[in-house]
Amino acid sequence: MASPHGVTAEAASIDAEPTSVFLRACRGLPVERTPVWLLRQAGRYQPEYRALREKHSMLDLVRTPELAAQVTLQPIESFDLDAAIVFSDILPPLIGMGFDLDFVKGDGPRIGNSITSTRDVDLLGTPPAEETMAPTLEAIRIVRRELEPRDVPVIGFAGAPFTLASYAIEGGTSKDFMRTKAFMLSEPAAWTRLLGKLVTVQADYLLAQARAGAQALQVFDSWAGRALGREDYLRYVAPANRELYSKISAAGVPVINFSLGVGTYLEQAAGCGGDVVGIDWQLPLDEAWKRVGFDRPVQGNLDPAALLAPWRELRFRIDDVLERAGGRPGHVFNVGHGLVPQTPPDNVRRLVQHVRERTSR
Ligand code: CP3
Repeated sequence: MASPHGVTAEAASIDAEPTSVFLRACRGLPVERTPVWLLRQAGRYQPEYRALREKHSMLDLVRTPELAAQVTLQPIESFDLDAAIVFSDILPPLIGMGFDLDFVKGDGPRIGNSITSTRDVDLLGTPPAEETMAPTLEAIRIVRRELEPRDVPVIGFAGAPFTLASYAIEGGTSKDFMRTKAFMLSEPAAWTRLLGKLVTVQADYLLAQARAGAQALQVFDSWAGRALGREDYLRYVAPANRELYSKISAAGVPVINFSLGVGTYLEQAAGCGGDVVGIDWQLPLDEAWKRVGFDRPVQGNLDPAALLAPWRELRFRIDDVLERAGGRPGHVFNVGHGLVPQTPPDNVRRLVQHVRERTSR
């Protein structure tokens, strides 16, 4: 059944040619200018966000659809970006599986009951996203309605199995991932069951986001590349990633595979799936693009630290990324990791304007 504004019908058909520059670039189609959006484009560098955070906790923002939609739209209103990413985090879906999640000021995410035994893995639930992530799905519907007239697409997202497993086992962000790796190497069968449950929950969540109106999906694998060498990645992570990408290809919307720090095995990480490959800031874009194949669209890859530099230097770095993209179809301009809270909003504004001016054809 089609929804009143045709969301269901559109999400289901990948054949109709999109008009927005972002969705066109995700399919390698020619564009009038290079689309630009930014990882962590909503957040603490924006005074409007900080003002809301004085009144509400991070999880309250995520769990109140109207507030999550408002935060999602803040950077679109301020900077006229070419895509919106729904405001949430990769970790809230863990709550429905049985984890106690909190965002502690100055300390990042904390999971009180992290996994310490194989039994903990077997006790984890895999409830449907429609039940556990309903506020985010509703936020997507609100944002989609709001942005449809401006032809600005909404991106849904989730964390990849390894990255989520690392939080579930470490209880927070880790420097060396030793607990995670010790568990993976000591309890390979339970590790496989854990990643299997994470794939079930994240695939269901991503598909639900597409049904709610998300026009692209991004999978964040922030820590596998930092934690694992190539052989361990192939053995312990790639099968779960392949299963996740294969399941969500049924969504009928472009999928962005963003795997951070996988320079030593970019081909293998990109080979797990996804239509668009997110390139992190450590690799020169042209070299990375060549490695994944110029026929595959890419997203990236300005170093977010460049936004802390004077405009002269920032402009030089933006131009370098654009030159390496070489005007080929299928480039989505982005940072190669999330914007940091110290980012001056004016630099975001100038960046967006500059990419637009430099690439208008
Ligand atoms: O604008 C957007 O990009 C959408 C929102 C978004 C957030 N987190 C909001 C957030 C997205 C896509 C994420 C993804 C995310 N979260 C990742 C993958 C991408 C990456 O950066 O590698 C990871 C690893 C996390 C886990 C996470 N969440 C950490 C480590 C932290 C603490 C560090 C930090 O930056 O604060 C968070 C908290 C978080 N997620 C905040 C925001 C806006 C800050 C919350 C606050 O207001 O205090």
